[in-house]
Amino acid sequence: MLVRILLFCLLGLVVAGGNGDSKASGGGHNRHGNGKGNGKGKKLPLKPNMVLILADDQDAGTHTREIMPRLFDRLVDKGVNYENFFTPVSLCCPSRVSLLRTQAAHNHNITNVELPHGGWVKFNNAGYVKHTMPDFLQAAGYNTYYVGKYMNQQTEANCVELPVSGFNASDMLVDPYTYDYWRPGFSVNNGPVEIHEDTYSNDIVAQKGLAHLDSALASSRPFFVGIAPIGPHSYMNSSLRKSSARLYMDTPLWPIRHNHMFNDAQLPRTESFNPDEPMGVSWVKTLPKLNSSNVAYLDEFYRGRLRSLQSIDEMVGQIFDKLEAAGALDNTYVIYTSDNGFALGTHRRQPGKTLAFEEDIKVPLAIRGPGMPKGFTDTVSSYGMVDLSRTFLDLAGAKPDYEDDGTKINLHLGNERSTGARSYMKHRHSLTEFWVRGIEEGRFVESSYRLNNTYRTLRVHDTVAGKPVTYSYGVWCTGERELYDLTTDPYQVRNLLAPLNALGKFAAFDADAVLGTEMQRVLHRLDALTLVLKTCVGKSCVEPYSALFPRGQVHTLREAMRGKYDGFFANLPKVHFDHCMLGYQSRLEQPEWDDAWAYMK
Ligand SMILES: *[C@@H]1O[C@H](CO)[C@@H](O)[C@H](O)[C@H]1NC(C)=O
Ligand SMILES: *[C@@H]1O[C@H](CO)[C@@H](O)[C@H](O)[C@H]1NC(C)=O
Ligand SMILES: *[C@@H]1O[C@H](CO)[C@@H](O)[C@H](O)[C@H]1NC(C)=O
Ligand SMILES: *[C@@H]1O[C@H](CO)[C@@H](O)[C@H](O)[C@H]1NC(C)=O
Ligand SMILES: *[C@@H]1O[C@H](CO)[C@@H](O)[C@H](O)[C@H]1NC(C)=O
Repeated sequence: MLVRILLFCLLGLVVAGGNGDSKASGGGHNRHGNGKGNGKGKKLPLKPNMVLILADDQDAGTHTREIMPRLFDRLVDKGVNYENFFTPVSLCCPSRVSLLRTQAAHNHNITNVELPHGGWVKFNNAGYVKHTMPDFLQAAGYNTYYVGKYMNQQTEANCVELPVSGFNASDMLVDPYTYDYWRPGFSVNNGPVEIHEDTYSNDIVAQKGLAHLDSALASSRPFFVGIAPIGPHSYMNSSLRKSSARLYMDTPLWPIRHNHMFNDAQLPRTESFNPDEPMGVSWVKTLPKLNSSNVAYLDEFYRGRLRSLQSIDEMVGQIFDKLEAAGALDNTYVIYTSDNGFALGTHRRQPGKTLAFEEDIKVPLAIRGPGMPKGFTDTVSSYGMVDLSRTFLDLAGAKPDYEDDGTKINLHLGNERSTGARSYMKHRHSLTEFWVRGIEEGRFVESSYRLNNTYRTLRVHDTVAGKPVTYSYGVWCTGERELYDLTTDPYQVRNLLAPLNALGKFAAFDADAVLGTEMQRVLHRLDALTLVLKTCVGKSCVEPYSALFPRGQVHTLREAMRGKYDGFFANLPKVHFDHCMLGYQSRLEQPEWDDAWAYMK
């Protein structure tokens, strides 16, 4: 075990210092394993394989053993589960672009699922094709494969003229068939759409994914295989999508073999579920209480989600069976995650995402791989899509051809104690951003789209004065703010800034009376982090305190809370929006962080 860890560390060094070519890949006939055949002469270090399973709209609340037993048995119990993993934007396309580009959304500026602010056409216009994580993996000697949902607005009309880059083989779901569970349509290797009538989407994605895994295993080069089923995303009938401008998003569908499952399941009736008082800010606080038929529909919708996850759970088992049979598990990282979360009924909501509540932004992340501890839960670090992307690049010894915003996820190779001083620097924050319309899904929705859904929301956790603290802090384009103390209010039903929102006085605010001195001190720190992170590039995204304290006095919220910095934080300018507008318009979000404001003592 020790030897393997050592070998792995060595490999990391070789790879990081290498020229990104495929020299390391000539490991002989047992290329994809490293446990067997040891001791037979000199063995070149091998680059690890990577299999990414990317679910669609799966919130962390559904990441449980009861719901996905094979995932827990084969992956979570034998790897690391990350409890704090967040989407950069609670919407598929922008989140996937962060994964492909290793960039915060304010840097890639693909902010919606469709033109003018996002989607596959904008991605092309931005010049991002050929400059994506899989392109960089290929340059580092990898064979790369992808099947399933890649990016919104890849359509049957544009999939040939706008080819994807970076894959040896690709099998992309294209619109309008992407979310049609029983009529998926694929563009195979950038070819014209192939429609599969009466075939369950998650099952054919599994079948195609396993075939790609076979090709990957047959080659002597290291591989990356991405498998992205649409479950448990809402169902969209492709015929209706063609014939109507309205969004018809409905309960996810499942194959007959899962009919009997979860018949008694109900959404958890937490404190935030369909509350008696309206909550939140902007359009959320105008939502009416849900009536009994609506609640029954939400429960049925939830059962549909759970059933649509079953085929994915089965696929996870099949992927491990295949890797095991090929003797490849010892040199393969398998990663399970989702692009963004999903809410149903909380804060009186219809099904949907696009907000920054925990259910919208917190997604599963579990990784199993060589040298990683088994059944370990990381409750301390906080990571996002850009960090996962950076982890793929680092494992492969690949580099983007621009400055990226990620940091490699702590895979806990070795163990907690051995990370020593570095645990000090653990990444404990994430920023979620949003600039376009909010979307509501399901049969009870009248208009689907919600204006005034622009916000920047920071989520921070740390230990202050010996106690764990977790805060969610959002600044909205409407002038409103949200601050939740998640340690005492995990369901976000008490916005500590609600009284100030009601006064509409944020321009010159003195929150002392409302918040108390201690919480106001916290708020000044959260404001400073938001100020740095909202335009961060590279290092300042990973270590925002390094921008605030270039001389290195402060690395954590705990250290920032020292009384001697009170004046510094209180006097920094506060982030605010001028007014609400669609798309990321930096002039509306002044000021921008200026290095001249840093603490220079
Ligand atoms: C982001 O893209 C929008 C169009 O979606 C454009 O209007 C805006 O200027 C861009 N913002 C930045 C900061 O580049
Ligand atoms: C995969 O693509 C890369 C880059 O084009 C190429 O060098 C490699 O040979 C391909 N692998 C296979 C198995 O075709
Ligand atoms: C999809 O919509 C079409 C047109 O309204 C309808 O004929 C078809 O039955 C629908 N499919 C499903 C699976 O509901
Ligand atoms: C609930 O509200 C919907 C309209 O949103 C209505 O169609 C339905 O009849 C109502 N159900 C009950 C039980 O009042
Ligand atoms: C959006 O917010 C502005 C305040 O910035 C408000 O005047 C306007 O009425 C809101 N519009 C909607 C549709 O909620």
